[in-house]
Amino acid sequence: MENNPEFRVSPNPKIVPEAERTRFLESPGFGRIFTDHMVTVTWETGRGWHDAHVVERKPFQLDPASAVLHYAQEIFEGMKAYRTESGSISLFRPEENARRFQRSAERLAMPRMPEELFLEAIEQLVRIDREWIPSGDGSLYLRPFMFADEAFLGVRPANRYTFCVIASPVGAYFKGGAKPITVWVSDTYSRAAPGGTGAAKCGGNYAASLIAQAEAAGKGCDQVVFLDAAERQWVEELGGMNIFFVMADGTLVTPPLGTILPGITRSSLITLARDAGRKVEERAYSFTQWQNDAASGRLREAFACGTAAVVAPIGTVRHANGEFPIAGGEVGPVTQELSEALVGIQRGTRADPYGWLRMIA
Ligand code: PLP
Ligand code: COI
Repeated sequence: MENNPEFRVSPNPKIVPEAERTRFLESPGFGRIFTDHMVTVTWETGRGWHDAHVVERKPFQLDPASAVLHYAQEIFEGMKAYRTESGSISLFRPEENARRFQRSAERLAMPRMPEELFLEAIEQLVRIDREWIPSGDGSLYLRPFMFADEAFLGVRPANRYTFCVIASPVGAYFKGGAKPITVWVSDTYSRAAPGGTGAAKCGGNYAASLIAQAEAAGKGCDQVVFLDAAERQWVEELGGMNIFFVMADGTLVTPPLGTILPGITRSSLITLARDAGRKVEERAYSFTQWQNDAASGRLREAFACGTAAVVAPIGTVRHANGEFPIAGGEVGPVTQELSEALVGIQRGTRADPYGWLRMIA
């Protein structure tokens, strides 16, 4: 059942005072500060989507038997709203997030949210909390998510779900800002397997990745790199980002879709690179090849990409038997060029020939 309920707006009577908000926006970090409101929409078997609310951000009341707490039936998205130099507000390809949310829902046996309802929910929150969008390099990170809150311990798709959107003003994802990151290649843990949930943005994938991410942090690394589960040789992606390799002839190589998250940043960079005349190969690339190519000079650069981190150059690769540098630990020219092209469109400082920006009135 697909229906589009009207939104009821109940403004928060106790919003954060302007002086405090301004102080928060000066150095927001990532994901610690939240805006005054949230959006919630409910879905139930037989009723479909109903009770769409914009309300003050507050804790949920959850029955301890809620299915999400036991069987992790939960999905989410990540996207950003930007304040352009002219003061207008834009979202970057939010329709793609809406569609991926539908695909994640399908994989997790959850109800499909109509694209218009998803977009309306996002826009309602951005409009009411627009004062929270940082100017300059910052942005407002939007986190739509949906979880099963039927109180029932039987193992089957739930009959009741809550969809919610919260928002968080953010600066750089990594503490080092734009400095190249160090990654840890896990030879112990897998993120996803064929037939599994790797292509869905579900909380369970991240729960399973935390031990590997913690191991990476313990080795002094910013992110973990996962190899494929079957042969443990093909590079897949990072804990929260996709990965690209830049070859000496300017060709880009990135792992193919299947068990990885189909990143919107990844797909945008592929388009930008191809339209700039570069060859882009979506193909399997092994960790052994990565090491050999870095040693021979055939590989010139590598970078990670995603909504939160945007484009993050990889400067050092650490693994069980040692480590090796990429691009001398500096930001490579191709990484820089692609990053500027993408960020320019996102922030409205470059033309947007693809119609990727959705302006919010
Ligand atoms: N891969 C993983 C595991 C992620 O969590 C993310 C972040 O959302 C990405 C890739 C990049 O996806 P996107 O560019 O759509 O943000
Ligand atoms: C995002 O980039 O939106 C993500 O969900 C990844 C996470 C590391 C914050």
